Amino acid sequence: MKVNGQPCRTIWPAPDGRAVEIIDQTRLPHTWVTVRLENLIDAERAIRDMQVRGAPLIGVTAAYGVALAMRHSTSDAALEAACSVLLAARPTAVNLRWGIERMREFVAPLPEGARADAAWAEAARIAEEDVAINAEIGRHGAELIRDIHQHKQAPVNILTHCNAGWLATVDWGTALAPVYAAFDAGVPLHVWVDETRPRNQGASLTAWELGQHGVPHTLIVDNAGGHLMQHGQVDLVIVGCDRVTARGDVCNKIGTYLKALAAHDNNVPFYVALPTPTIDWYLQDGIREIPIEERAAEEVTHISGRDRDGQMRQVQICPDSTPAANYGFDVTPARLVGGLITERGVVAANAAAMKVLGAT
Ligand code: MRU
Repeated sequence: MKVNGQPCRTIWPAPDGRAVEIIDQTRLPHTWVTVRLENLIDAERAIRDMQVRGAPLIGVTAAYGVALAMRHSTSDAALEAACSVLLAARPTAVNLRWGIERMREFVAPLPEGARADAAWAEAARIAEEDVAINAEIGRHGAELIRDIHQHKQAPVNILTHCNAGWLATVDWGTALAPVYAAFDAGVPLHVWVDETRPRNQGASLTAWELGQHGVPHTLIVDNAGGHLMQHGQVDLVIVGCDRVTARGDVCNKIGTYLKALAAHDNNVPFYVALPTPTIDWYLQDGIREIPIEERAAEEVTHISGRDRDGQMRQVQICPDSTPAANYGFDVTPARLVGGLITERGVVAANAAAMKVLGAT
C-alpha cells in the first residue's frame, strides 16, 4: 500500500542486510516512526509491546526473529531458545506458532554453517507469501462486495472491527483486502470503523490506513454497530481473526462476538477474512480451547491521545482504585459466521467445508 504516495510494507529487510525494519504502530496515527530490529530480543519486544501486531504480521516478525537469532548463533540450542522466547511473546494469534514452526522445520535439518543465510531467505519467503495470500483474499472478498452493490445499486456499507488491514499483515490486509480490491475496481463503498477499545486499533490504525488510501469511512464507538444494523446502515460485516478452529469457531479482537450476535439478529452477513495459516487444525471448540490473552489493566483504566497542543498524553478515566480486567480476544461460534474468506476462496465455517483449505 502507499503512505503519502510512496509504496510501503509493514516489515522489510534493512538496506545493510543485518536487520529488519518495522513501522512502530504504537505511534500511529500521529507519528511515523520506523524501528530497526537487530536481534531476537528486539523482535520479541516488538511483538510483545505491539509495535507490530495483527496475526499475520506477528507470524512474519517471529520468522524474522528466528532468522535474526541465527545471525548470532546457529547451534541447535540457539534455535530452540529463539523459538521458545518468541512463542511466549503473545498467546492468541496462531500465526506466531505457525511462523516459528515453519522456520524450525526448515532450519533444523540444515548444517549449522548454512543456517543463517537459509533462515533469512525463508523468512523473506514467508513475508512474500503473506502478500500474495492477502491479494487473493482481496480478490475473493471483493466479489461479495460487488454482488451486494449490484443488488443494492448504492454504496455498500461495510462494518469492521479492530485493524485487519495492511498494517496487520505485510501488505493488503485480510478484512480490508476485499475493501481495497473493490474500491480500486470502482465499487462505491463506505466503511464503519469500530474504535476498538482498549487500544483503539480501529481509531488509530484502520481509520489512518483507509484515509491514506482515500476509502470513505466513519469512526464509531464500539457499541454503535447494533444500532446501525437495526437501521439498515450495515450491508456486510468483515473482520479478521487471530485463530480459527477446525470446525470454524473464530477468535478475534474482544467485541467481535457481540458484532456477530447483532449481525445474526439483523440478518446482516458476517464474514471473517483469513489466510489459511490462521487455522489451528488441532483445535475444535474455540471457546474452551483457545488461550485468550489478558493484558495490563492500565490499557483499560487509561487512554492516550494527542492534546490540543499536539502533545501525546495519557489520562486516567476511572477512580484511582478501580480494578480492571483486560481480555484481548473473544470467540465467535461458527454458527454465527456466514463464511470464511480465504486465499483459496470463500467457504462455510464448518469442518466439512473447511477440509478443502487443509489440502496441499
Ligand atoms: O491485538 P492485535 O492488534 O494484534 O489484534 C489484531 C486483531 O484482532 C486482528 O483483527 C487480527 O489479528 C486479524 S489481523 C489481519
